[in-house]
Amino acid sequence: MSEQDIIYVDSNATTLIAPEVYAAMTPYLTTWYGNPSSPHPFGSDAAEVIADARKSIGDLIGADEDEIVFTSCGTEADNTAIMSALETQKGRRRIVTTAVEHHAVFSLCHVLRKRGWPVDFLSVDKQGRLDLDEARAVINDETAIVSVMWANNEIGNIYPVVELAEIAHANGALFHTDAVQAVGKVPINLRETKIDFLALSGHKLHAPKGVGALYVRRHTPFSSYLIGGGQEHGRRAGTENVASIAGLGKAAELAKAHMIEENTTVKALRDKLERGLVAACPDPLVNGDPEHRLPNTLNMCFKYIEGEAILLRMYDAARICASSGSACTSGSLEPSHVLRAMGLDYQALHGSIRFSLSRYNTEAEIDAIIAATPPIIKELRRLSPYGH
Ligand SMILES: Cc1ncc(COP(=O)(O)O)c(C=O)c1O
Repeated sequence: MSEQDIIYVDSNATTLIAPEVYAAMTPYLTTWYGNPSSPHPFGSDAAEVIADARKSIGDLIGADEDEIVFTSCGTEADNTAIMSALETQKGRRRIVTTAVEHHAVFSLCHVLRKRGWPVDFLSVDKQGRLDLDEARAVINDETAIVSVMWANNEIGNIYPVVELAEIAHANGALFHTDAVQAVGKVPINLRETKIDFLALSGHKLHAPKGVGALYVRRHTPFSSYLIGGGQEHGRRAGTENVASIAGLGKAAELAKAHMIEENTTVKALRDKLERGLVAACPDPLVNGDPEHRLPNTLNMCFKYIEGEAILLRMYDAARICASSGSACTSGSLEPSHVLRAMGLDYQALHGSIRFSLSRYNTEAEIDAIIAATPPIIKELRRLSPYGH
C-alpha cells in the first residue's frame, strides 16, 4: 500500500506535514543543530529561527512575540494554563469548564476535582451548544479560571470564547481557551479579546507532532509548569525543539496567507460530502451546530450500527481513513463523552463517524467517499441485531 492510495479525512486527529514546513525544518535537523542557549553564533542561529517562529505565530493569532511560549504539545499548553491559574489566583479555587472539552482539559479537570478543587462542567444542548446564561450563573468571585475550547475536535462546534472571556474577567477570573482545532482554520485576533491563555498544537495545522505553544497575555500572572533552565524567558524549561518550532512557524505563515481561500474550498468539499451522505443514507443524523462549525468537520451518526465497523469497512472498500469519535477515545469502547453530553440516544451514540478535511483533500476523494459509504451502511444495517 502506498500513501497515494489513502483517502485521508482524519485531519482533526493529525495533519500531513506541508512540504514547505518540512523544508523549513530539515536544516535544523542536519546542518544547524546548535543549542539556542549556547553563546556562540552556531547557537544564536537556532535562537534566531525560534524568534522568527514566535513572530509568525503571533501574526496568526494577533499576539506579540513575548506572549508566545513554546511547549511540547497542545496538551502541555492546556495543562500549563490551568495549573498556572490555580497557582497565581490565590484565594480562588473554582474551575469552570465544559462537558465537551478535549481530554487535555477534561481529564485534567477530573483529576483536579479528585484532588479537591471544585470544578463546574457547563452543559451543552442537543447540538452541542453552550448556554451563556448558565456560564453567567456559574462563574463568580470564587472562580480562578474558566477554560472553554475555541472549537470542538469531534463535532467542530465553535464556542463564544470572546464573550466567555468577558464574563470571566467581569468576575475577576482568568480565561483560557484550547484553540488547538481553531488555529489556522478560523481567524483569531487576540488583541480584540480578554483571553488570557490560548493553547495551540503544531500537528493540527500541517506542522509536526510534538510541538505546541501557549499564548500568555502580557501582564497575566503566570507560573511555570516545567521548572529547570531559563528557556522561553524563564516560562518553560527544557531545550527547545528547534526544528519543530521552525516548522510550526512556517505552518503559521502558510495558514495566515491562505486561510480564507483554503477554508472556502475545504468548506465546499465538506458541504458536498454532507449533502451526498445525507441524501444516500437513510435516517442520517448530522451532529453539531450547523451555524457555528469548523469548515472542515462533519460528524454523523448512522443509527443501529457500530462506528468501528463502518470505519473498518470504509478502509477496506476505498482506503478511507476517518474516525469514530476522537482519536483519543476511539481506543476505548466508551462512546464519546461529547456525544453523550449532547444527550444522543444509545442507537446513535455508537454509530458516529467524524470526517475532518484539509486543504490536501480533492473533489475526487469526496466523490469516492460518497460512493463507498452508503452500501456499507446498508449492509451493516442489514446485519444489525436491531433489524433495520
Ligand atoms: C481540541 C484539542 N485539544 C488538545 C489536543 C491535544 O493536542 P496534542 O496532541 O498536541 O497534545 C487535541 C488533539 O487532538 C485537540 O483536538
